Amino acid sequence: MELKRFDALAIQNAHSDRSRPYGECERRVLNQEGFRKAYAEISSWPGYKETPLIKLEGMAQQLGVGEIFYKDEGQRLGLKSFKAIGGAYAVLAILQRYLAAQGITEHVTAADLIAKKHRAEVEKVIVAAATDGNHGRSVAWGAQMFGCQCVIYLHEHVSLTREQEIARYGARIVRVAGHYDDSVLACAADSAVNGWYVAGDTSNDVGADVPSLIMQGYTLVAAEILSQLAERKPTHVFVQAGVGGLAAAVAGHYWELLGTERPNIVVVEPQRADCVFRSIAAGRPTQVPGDTNTVMACLAAGEVSAPAWVILQHAVDSVIALPESAAAPTMQVLAAGIAGDPPIVAGESGCAATAGLIAAALDPRLRDMLGIGPQSRIVTIGSEGATDEDAYQRIVGRASESVAA
Ligand SMILES: Cc1ncc(COP(=O)(O)O)c(C=O)c1O
Repeated sequence: MELKRFDALAIQNAHSDRSRPYGECERRVLNQEGFRKAYAEISSWPGYKETPLIKLEGMAQQLGVGEIFYKDEGQRLGLKSFKAIGGAYAVLAILQRYLAAQGITEHVTAADLIAKKHRAEVEKVIVAAATDGNHGRSVAWGAQMFGCQCVIYLHEHVSLTREQEIARYGARIVRVAGHYDDSVLACAADSAVNGWYVAGDTSNDVGADVPSLIMQGYTLVAAEILSQLAERKPTHVFVQAGVGGLAAAVAGHYWELLGTERPNIVVVEPQRADCVFRSIAAGRPTQVPGDTNTVMACLAAGEVSAPAWVILQHAVDSVIALPESAAAPTMQVLAAGIAGDPPIVAGESGCAATAGLIAAALDPRLRDMLGIGPQSRIVTIGSEGATDEDAYQRIVGRASESVAA
């Protein structure tokens, strides 16, 4: 299968500065101590293991780059996306704080809650979140695992398959007219009235700690990649963005840990929901006007999360904005495997980072701008598998199960 070129927009970040130290502002959002705590908790959850880092030699050869590694988050904890280690981690933290406020002084672990310790208190708690799909699935899964109640807000464009995937963990679903940002507002308003705890992955407040905790959960993805590559440091990481939480987690973790030796961070977005692209271009958070609906359904955010922006504004090196037509051929190419590469199941949003890499590598101007070539060791984040099986079958033409078999 041949890799075909498609037109993408790209910009460099005029405010990225590799010599800038990781400072107090950034540390308030993400830090190594927070990473160690998140790792200690999440790695103790039933079923936790590192997701695979798959070498794509055929694709590297066709694109004329040194090495490509695909981080397959489709294999994460049975939830099929990296989101599993964010939302559920926030639910745990919310319950730990709640129990501490009730006078329980001992440290309550995930294992305690799974064993139904403190059940009577925990059952009273209601967590709420707005979602394009995967974040809500993680929050609902975490609520069920740790024993509290859950309400999930979905905007009108979220598919029925995604709704069913969330409802199966016992969450109550609320549908909201409009787009993702409308569902975030509705969730916040109802939670304030009802006394629910918002497990939201985005906020306008730079100091909001729940979105930061969620990003701290995501830093495990970045840490696993480094340990899987051992001494071989990546030169570039391509990572997709919705509200920017995943990209900030990866960029912030590497910035703090590796300083000037950190990889180039290339953020990839749909052109229809390009809030990071616009914000980097303007040098300040900038909203996408109007409709952000996109085939890359989980990236349909019109506004960057403020805590994520603290890190992204200096740590992103470039941003690529993809046309809608980029997702389907990339999913198909990954499913087929290029020149002996293993077949990979990637959802519409999960394939976006790889689509950005293909677009950049096949365009001489973008290759030059991003500094990619035969010397590059590139990691591309596959942030989800077939999280919407109906959509996957429509686009790829067969069931996801038959691809990986
Ligand atoms: C599969 C997938 N990839 C990427 C993202 C983007 O993450 P963020 O919104 O933290 O930028 C999401 C968000 O829901 C997602 O579900």
